[in-house]
This record gives sequence, C-alpha cells and structure tokens, in this order.
Amino acid sequence: MQHPIAILDSGVGGITVAKEIIRQLPQEKIVYFGDSARSPYGPRKPEEIVRFTMQIVRYLLRFQPKLLVIACNTATAVALDQVRASVSIPVVGVICPGARAAVKKTKSGVIGVIGTECTVRSQAYDQALKDLSPKLEVLSQPCPRFVPLVEQGDFHSPQAKQAVWESLAPLKHHAHGKPMDCLILGCTHYPFLQDAISSVMGSGVELINSAEETARETSAVLHHQGQLAKTRERPVHHFLCSGNPATFQGIAREWLNEDIQVTPVVWQGP
Ligand code: SIN
Repeated sequence: MQHPIAILDSGVGGITVAKEIIRQLPQEKIVYFGDSARSPYGPRKPEEIVRFTMQIVRYLLRFQPKLLVIACNTATAVALDQVRASVSIPVVGVICPGARAAVKKTKSGVIGVIGTECTVRSQAYDQALKDLSPKLEVLSQPCPRFVPLVEQGDFHSPQAKQAVWESLAPLKHHAHGKPMDCLILGCTHYPFLQDAISSVMGSGVELINSAEETARETSAVLHHQGQLAKTRERPVHHFLCSGNPATFQGIAREWLNEDIQVTPVVWQGP
C-alpha cells in the first residue's frame, strides 16, 4: 500500500499547494481535504480554528498518511503546534516556507504580507521573517474579502478586481523609506487572485507564493525519512470536500488543468 501525503485547507486554497507538490513529487499520492462548508476560517476565533483543524486531522488519519501538510495559513498560524503534538507523522505548515521564500528574494528588506484577519493578528509571519532576518521591515494587511471570492470561483470579475484594489490600497500607498519589493500571499487562496494583485502592486513588487517552498520542504522531509514513493505509476489522488463538491471540482479543475473526482463529506454534530 502506498501511504499518501495528506493536505488540508479551509477550502480550495490548498489546491495551490497540492499542485506544486504534484509537480515536484509526481509519484506521490495525495489525499486532500477542503473544509469549504466552514470557510472562511479567517474571521473565526483561534479556538474554533484549532477545533476544526484537529477534526480534519483525525479524519485524514484514517488514510494512514505518511506526512501532513497544513495548506492553510490561518490554521498553520494557530494550530500547527497542537497538530504536531498530537500526531506521530511529520507536519509541514505554510508560513515558514513562505517566509523563507521571501527572505531569499527581497533586496530592499521591506516585505509586505497579506493574509486573513486571524493570520495577520497572530503575527506569525512577522515572527517567522524576523527569526530569519531581524532587520527586515514587515508591512501587513488583512484582506478578508478575498477568500469568499475565491471559494465562489470569482477571480476575474470587475467586482473581484475592485475588492483587490480597495483591499491593497493601504499597502500600496504606505509611505516609507525603502520600497517594498516582495509581497507574501499569506493565504493559500490568494494565488487565484494573483493577476489582479499583481496589476495593483505593479512590476516592482514580486508576489511570493509559499507553495513551491512548501513542496520543497515536503520533499526534503520525506527524503530524510526514506519515505519517498518508489513507484513509477501515476497515482490517483483523492479529493474530499465538506462544501459543494461541484463548485470545488470546477475550481480545482481550472487550477490543476485536470479532471478530478471529489468525495463530499458531511460533518456530523456541532
Ligand atoms: C481562510 O479560510 O480564511 C483562509 C485560508 C488561509 O489562511 O490560507
């Protein structure tokens, strides 16, 4: 039996990470859980996000994964330590990989971070960036309108562009000495809006998506543990979603450029 890599997210956002893991590790089987029924996590209280995350982790453990990726910045910010303490497999979050990618790229030392209210309030990125390079200047901006747009598959409409424009205005017009040259997309849903984000921020600001670095860390951990899949066959991935499977499937298809089957999951109880 091939043990899969389990990936969880509050909805469709983690597909941006799954795509990169599939690209870098094509022999690995993925089991993905998107909690679209309870998305967005960003405005929720940390205790609730921890409870939801732990519930998904318990659900995913039935597939006997060899590694778990928390492909949600909000859940990484508030639940990573608790998840790590409760399972016996390696757990990879998305915040340290995103911070590392930005530190590798910045020349001005001024890095922007956009994320959910919860992620920005947690200061998890500020901490991760300053741990890597204490002199960095970090400018953070919550963008609570983005996740609901992405969960509806609305990436290119005039309303989506307007929401992006309005949400980024405080960052764009922030007056400071050195220019910001990197903007961390501190929510795995945001790469779906990258064209609009990029056109607001301009060509001098590089968008940092943690997916590539997260996939690299996943690969390094599995390599270190001697657990990289040895098969040459292309695995069949398994997608589970607590929300509308057809909406999830349409968005996943567009991002992954391939057809996927989605199994609906109905949560029991509160
Ligand atoms: C959310 O569900 O609000 C956000 C997901 C993320 O932070 O990546």
